[in-house]
Amino acid sequence: MKQVQALFSAVLCMLMVIMAYSAAAAADTANKTAPEQGAKAIAIDADLGSTHPEVEEGITCNDCHEIKLDANSSATQAWLTDDYLKWSKGEGILPENKLWEAIVASLGKKKDKMRTYILATCLNNTPLSTTAEWSLDPEEKILYGLHEQGTQKLLHIQKNPKVSLNWHKEFETFNDYRCIQILGRAEIIEGTDPRYEKILIDVLDYEEGAKKKKMTPKQFRDTIKSYMVISKITIDQITMANYAFTHDGYRIYQRWVRK
Ligand code: HEC
Repeated sequence: MKQVQALFSAVLCMLMVIMAYSAAAAADTANKTAPEQGAKAIAIDADLGSTHPEVEEGITCNDCHEIKLDANSSATQAWLTDDYLKWSKGEGILPENKLWEAIVASLGKKKDKMRTYILATCLNNTPLSTTAEWSLDPEEKILYGLHEQGTQKLLHIQKNPKVSLNWHKEFETFNDYRCIQILGRAEIIEGTDPRYEKILIDVLDYEEGAKKKKMTPKQFRDTIKSYMVISKITIDQITMANYAFTHDGYRIYQRWVRK
């Protein structure tokens, strides 16, 4: 019996040593991979300086520092609200409803033909831009797209929902250009989600696709559920450049921000 007890306490001791060791090891790796707790926030134009520890290749400043964007001094900010061309500070800004009308005129509304955008996603500090189609819900200010499952952009979104999109009219002249830059948050809606069917019926122009496949709309909706997902992009900010705004005395660059 004594022997069994001795063996038991020896095993227990070993277990405790192993546990203590792995806890220490875990803390060690956590320290190595976590962003530097001590690093202060830096300005977008900050330099490394001569005393900074060496920054390994593939590591970016914002792996350790929060980077403060001084939005007020950027050129875009001046174009939007400051003294710029013939406009004095605060002049030439479109009323919000007029700006939305212009945005909808370019991007369309529910059940309209989808528009082609470039979507930018980012994972592990590596950006990816992808061409795809979306429809706008102008009331909720949300974009909906229909995509084949499992592509890289969707994997990016699942890990990092922050996205940026761009729609533009093909450039022709400097007197007539139009482009729309969007910042938003993306979510993937699977075929099993009760919202899926409703979004198809209310927002997306999928009927053409059904016709092509010689299916009824219902057959088509039921079929694609198993291999297509919907992306829902909640728009947080739109910056629109539209030369035509100047015809009514407004600035070329206008911005809408979700409140
Ligand atoms: C591996 C982590 C790490 C990376 C990557 C890194 N830094 Fe730092 N940096 C630090 C630490 C730690 C300090 C010292 C603590 C502090 O002052 O914030 C520091 C200090 C600084 C300071 C001085 C801040 C102050 O107010 O005193 C500047 C400026 C700076 N870093 C710029 C940069 C820039 C620019 C990059 C990218 C090119 C960069 N750092 C990348 C960790 C990092």
